Amino acid sequence: MKVLVTGANGFLGYYLCRQLHAAGHTVLATGKGGNRHGDIAYAYASLDFTDPFAVHDVFEAFAPEAVIHAGAMSKPDECEKNQWQAYLVNVEGTLHLLANAEECEAYFLFVSTDFVFDGETGMYTEEATVNPVNYYGKTKAEAEEAVQEYAHAWGIVRTVLVYGLPQGGRSNLLSVVKEKLEKGETYQVVSDQWRTPTFVEDLAAGIVQLVQQRSKGIYHLSGPDGYSPYEMAKELAALLKLDAALIQPCLSAVIPGAARRPMRTGLSIEKAKAAIGYAPLSFAEGLRRLYGQ
Ligand SMILES: NC(=O)c1ccc[n+]([C@@H]2O[C@H](COP(=O)([O-])OP(=O)(O)OC[C@H]3O[C@@H](n4cnc5c(N)ncnc54)[C@H](OP(=O)(O)O)[C@@H]3O)[C@@H](O)[C@H]2O)c1
Repeated sequence: MKVLVTGANGFLGYYLCRQLHAAGHTVLATGKGGNRHGDIAYAYASLDFTDPFAVHDVFEAFAPEAVIHAGAMSKPDECEKNQWQAYLVNVEGTLHLLANAEECEAYFLFVSTDFVFDGETGMYTEEATVNPVNYYGKTKAEAEEAVQEYAHAWGIVRTVLVYGLPQGGRSNLLSVVKEKLEKGETYQVVSDQWRTPTFVEDLAAGIVQLVQQRSKGIYHLSGPDGYSPYEMAKELAALLKLDAALIQPCLSAVIPGAARRPMRTGLSIEKAKAAIGYAPLSFAEGLRRLYGQ
C-alpha cells in the first residue's frame, strides 16, 4: 500500500515509517524541512502541512492509498503559549490533509491524545466524553471532529505518554531521568498525575495493523498498566541500578509556566485487543526491552 506519513521527523513518525517499510509498504515520509533521521530506506519529501499548496503538490505526485497524520505541535506548554500557531498546525493543517486525502479516496488515520479528556476519572474508553483542559487538548479534539466528518474511511488513534529510545535528538521523561541520575543530579518528577505509558514500538505496530485493515473509528492504543511519572522514574532507576533517592516527587501545581494537565487519564485498550489482537508490553517489559537488563 502507498502510505504517506506526516511528522516523520518526530518520535513516533520515525518508528512508524520503519515498521511500514518493513511490512512491505511504499512509504512517503514527510516532515518540515529535510529528513533528520539520517539514512532511511524509504522516500522522504519536505512538507509543511500548514501550506495548502505544498500539500496539494505532494498528494498529487504520490497519490497515497493511506495517510497517517502523526505530525503535530505536540508539546502542551508550547501550545498554551502560542495558541494561534497551535491552531494553525493542529487544526488547519489537519483540514488541508483531509481535503487532499479525500481526492485520492485514501484511508485517513489521525494520531490523537489522552489530553482530549479532562482527567477526572481515568481509564477512558473510546466512547467517553471529550472535555480538554488545555489548548493542546482543544486543538486535538477539534481535529478529531473534522476527521470524523471525512468522506471516506477514517481512524483515530488516541495514545498516552509515549516512551522509547529518543529519535531526532529529542529527549523524553525516561531519557532525561537517566541522564540526570547518571550525573548524580537530583530531579523532580510529578507524582500526582496518572497515565498508562505506551511503548513506541507497540504504538507503531498497532497503527500499522489498523491501516492494513483500514479499521474505522476511534481506537485507544496505550500500555496496559498505570503509573505516575514519578513511579516510572523510580522503576527506571531500579532497573538501571541508579540512585532512586535523587528522584524527588513533586505536585503538578509547583511546575512553573506549565499548561494545566488532565490529572488522571489512562486509556482502556479492550477495543484494540479485540479488533487487532493488540498486546502491548507491560511498562516493566518495555523498560527491559529498551535498556536490555
Ligand atoms: N509523545 C507522546 O507522549 C504523545 C502522547 C499522546 C499523543 N501524541 C501524539 O502523537 C503524535 C506524534 O507525537 P510525537 O511524540 O512523535 O511528537 P513529535 O516528536 O513532536 O513529532 C511531531 C512532528 O510533527 C512535526 N510538525 C509540526 N508541525 C508541522 C508542520 N506544520 N508540517 C510538518 N510537520 C510538522 C514536527 O516537526 P519539527 O520536528 O520540525 O518541529 C515533529 O517532527 C502527535 O500527534 C502527538 O499529538 C504523542
